[in-house]
Amino acid sequence: MTTIIANWKMNGSHSTTEALLEGLSPVLRAAPSGCEVVLCPPFTLLDSVGRHLRGTKVWVGAQNCHQAREGAYTGEISPYMLAESGVTHVLIGHSERREYAGEDDALIAQKLQASHKAGLKTVLCVGETLAEREAGQVHAVVERQLKAVNATHFASYVAYEPVWAIGTGKTPTEIDIASMHQHIKSQTGGIIPVLYGGSVKAENASTILAIPAVAGALVGGASLDIDSFSQILHAAYQINNA
Ligand code: PGA
Repeated sequence: MTTIIANWKMNGSHSTTEALLEGLSPVLRAAPSGCEVVLCPPFTLLDSVGRHLRGTKVWVGAQNCHQAREGAYTGEISPYMLAESGVTHVLIGHSERREYAGEDDALIAQKLQASHKAGLKTVLCVGETLAEREAGQVHAVVERQLKAVNATHFASYVAYEPVWAIGTGKTPTEIDIASMHQHIKSQTGGIIPVLYGGSVKAENASTILAIPAVAGALVGGASLDIDSFSQILHAAYQINNA
């Protein structure tokens, strides 16, 4: 099984989404059964994307959620609300949430558990910063991020996203990706699919997806472009059929 998850981040209006989904329609409809495709638009577009994807095998995910079931948390959305709206997946602990929303391991642990309990498939994002990499702490950082949230029990997927590779056009070497994915697998009992994220593009998708320990990709910027994302999906479909 190869999983491709599109993280639209804070992008997309109703009109751009309409155009994007129209353009992607042929490739989304062609998803083979061995490939899982998930689109994660902003909250405001979850419903219309879900309606658009009806009749396809493509799933809808959210980029974040609150850790409580319900209550006086102005502006928040609970994982139960997402599940009730037809959302099947949720990203938890993305580095942009860790950095800009101050999410720490303790909060991420609560969100991960709550989402799991609500029946969502959880995509736990982990990865080191450039400073941590340069200090030789890559394994230590990722091990902490996995252990602190009990990933083995509550993560449906782990997305390894080196922070310095996100949106920068830089990627680790194939050897680095392979060894990190092996390491994450060994830390999580070997059963949780490990996706790679960070500057996945049409040009590098086939190479990255062909690395044996890579179960798929979390795609940011390139998922907003019809040609780029179509090519990434075709690369995934081909690997799956090989
Ligand atoms: P990118 O983002 O593909 O634009 O690097 C990936 C992510 O943040 O999930």
